[in-house]
Amino acid sequence: MKNVVIKTDKLTKKFGDFIATDAITFEVYEGEIFGFLGANGAGKTTAMRMLCGLSIPTSGGATIAGFDIYKEAEKIKANIGYMSQKFSLYEDLTVIENIRFFGGVYGLSDKEIKEKSDDLIDLLGLKEESKKLVGSLPLGWKQKLAFSVAIIHDPKIVFLDEPTGGVDPVTRRQFWDLIYEASNRGITIFVTTHYMDEAEYCNRISMMVDGEMKALDTPTNLKKTYNAASMDEVFFELARGAKRQAD
Ligand SMILES: Nc1ncnc2c1ncn2[C@@H]1O[C@H](COP(=O)(O)OP(=O)(O)O)[C@@H](O)[C@H]1O
Ligand SMILES: [Mg+2]
Repeated sequence: MKNVVIKTDKLTKKFGDFIATDAITFEVYEGEIFGFLGANGAGKTTAMRMLCGLSIPTSGGATIAGFDIYKEAEKIKANIGYMSQKFSLYEDLTVIENIRFFGGVYGLSDKEIKEKSDDLIDLLGLKEESKKLVGSLPLGWKQKLAFSVAIIHDPKIVFLDEPTGGVDPVTRRQFWDLIYEASNRGITIFVTTHYMDEAEYCNRISMMVDGEMKALDTPTNLKKTYNAASMDEVFFELARGAKRQAD
């Protein structure tokens, strides 16, 4: 039996009459790398913010790590990490100051923070840069650092909202090495992307179109179902006729 760590039931968010996320129902298993795909405006960020306990649904329900999104949002926040689309590092603090700051926010002791920061700096190869302002780093390094601080407290689940936007394929690949490393340590990964090479790295993929979840399966099965040679083709087949395409 697989352990379910995210379970939603017709989860819906409206802004006025506009249905941003439309009754999505799905489960994510412990240890999975779960891809959340969809064109710009499909409703990914809106759904993710509800799952993180940051936004109250209009209707429907969900449990995250066993906690109810209406009644136990604080417990959810203690058990997850979240890297938002415009991720939240302090540009005017150094690398090491950012690590210490987020370690403190997530409730680590001074000793744990010291150990974690040494490990992190090593893992990321940022020894030379540790005293540089984050604002001066290339985007790819900021993304890797933002991911690392999002999991500094060893959460059960980490939510990544387009974590590799705007960087080259090599840097994206390095970022995915970090994701695999976290996954191997047992952290469940919930990641939105619109890069189809990244979709191939996921265990299962869901596809959002105009707020609805149109498909959910492994990359291999999706390609079979849609008689497609690549995830690109699956994506275009599913997104055909979508109304929302732009930001
Ligand atoms: N706070 C808000 N108020 C009104 N409309 C919103 C708000 N947040 C998002 N939307 C709309 O909901 C739709 C889905 O947005 P979003 O969840 O950000 O999509 P995605 O992350 O898939 O690009 C978009 O049309 C967006 O304009
Ligand atoms: Mg988004």
